[in-house]
Amino acid sequence: CPTELYDGHNRRIDYLRISVTDRCNLNCVYCGDGRCDNLPHGAILTYEEITRVAAILAGMGISHIRLTGGEPLVRPKVDVLIGMLRNLPGIEEISMTTNGTLLERWAELLRKSGLNRVNVSVDSLKPERFKEITRGGDLGRVLNGIEAAKIAGLKPVKVNVVVMPGVNDDEITDFARWTIENGANVRFIEQMPFTKNAASVTVADMKTIIETAIGKLEPVYEHGSGPASYFKLPAAKGTIGFIQPVSNCFCDNCNRLRLTADGKLRLCLLDDSELDLKPMLRGDLTDAEIKLALQQAIMKKPARHQLADGIVPEKLMRQIGG
Ligand code: GTP
Ligand code: 5AD
Repeated sequence: CPTELYDGHNRRIDYLRISVTDRCNLNCVYCGDGRCDNLPHGAILTYEEITRVAAILAGMGISHIRLTGGEPLVRPKVDVLIGMLRNLPGIEEISMTTNGTLLERWAELLRKSGLNRVNVSVDSLKPERFKEITRGGDLGRVLNGIEAAKIAGLKPVKVNVVVMPGVNDDEITDFARWTIENGANVRFIEQMPFTKNAASVTVADMKTIIETAIGKLEPVYEHGSGPASYFKLPAAKGTIGFIQPVSNCFCDNCNRLRLTADGKLRLCLLDDSELDLKPMLRGDLTDAEIKLALQQAIMKKPARHQLADGIVPEKLMRQIGG
C-alpha cells in the first residue's frame, strides 16, 4: 500500500516538478526578459543530489516527476538523470515540459532512458510569429520534434498554447482545427499576468470562439497530473484541454511541489517562500533529517497564490519552470 503525502490543508501531494536548469535556448516574450543572469554551474544541483531529493520524496508519497527548465534538454546528459529517477521505488511516471527545439535529436534516447511523455510549448502555428514570440525560434524544428516524440512512443504529446491577447488569440481556431486535421492534443492556457490589471483571454472566451467557429466541445478523459480539463470536437482524434489559472484558480486541488535548479523546494509556482535544500545536501545531514525538514515545509504549503491581489513572484518563469 503506497505512502500518501498530505500538506497542511489536507491536499494530497503526489507530483514533483524538477527544474534541471534555468537556462533556455529560447527567450519567449512572456517568460524570459533577455537577462543573462544564469546560475553558475556549481550553484545547480548535481544529478546525484536531485536523485537523492527525489528518492526521499518518493518514499514520502510522490509518484509523478516532471522535468522542466529553463529548457531541460539544454542540460547535458539529461537522459542519465531520467535513468536514475526511473529506478526509484514509487515513481510511476516521468514526464517533461520542453520547447521542443532539440526534441527530434533526443526523443528516442529519452524514451529508452525511461521518459513516459512530453508536453511541448507552441504559441503560434505561423513561422514568422513563432520566431517573434520566442525571439528566434524555428517552428519547423519544433513540429519535427513533436512528430519524433510520437514515433518514439512519448505519448500523449500535449501542445501548450499560452493565449496572449492581441498576440496569438486570432489563432485559437487554427489550433483547434489542428486537433481534427493532425490529431494533435492542444491545451490552451490563460496567460498569468505579472503586471497589474493586464488583460487575459479567459477559457470561457476561448470555448465560445471554438464552438461558434467549429462545433460543440464534448468533455473527455485525458491522462495527466495537472489542472487541465479536456474536450473533443466532433470527428477530432486529438483533444483540446483548457488550463484556467486566472479565471478559476485551482489552488484547492494543487497536488504539486517544485525543486528549483539551485536546490530550493518551492511550495507554489507563484509564491516565493522556499526551503533551501542545498546546504543540507552538501552538509552532513542524513536522509531522515532532510525528510523531517521537507515534512515541516510541506505542512506550510500556501493555501493559495495571491495573483489577484497583484502579488507576483520575483523570479522569472524560466527560473521556476512554469
Ligand atoms: P500534465 O501532467 O500533462 O497535466 O502536465 P501539467 O499541466 O501539470 O504540466 P505543464 O508543465 O505542461 O504545465 C501546463 C501549464 O500549467 C503551464 O502554463 C504552467 O505554468 C501551469 N501550471 C503548472 N503548475 C501550476 C501551478 O502549480 N499553479 C499554476 N497557477 N499554474 C501551473
Ligand atoms: N502564463 C501561463 N503559462 C505560462 N508558461 C510560461 N509563462 C506562463 C504564463 N505567464 C507556460 C509555458 C510552458 C509551461 C511550463 O508554462 O508556455 O508551456
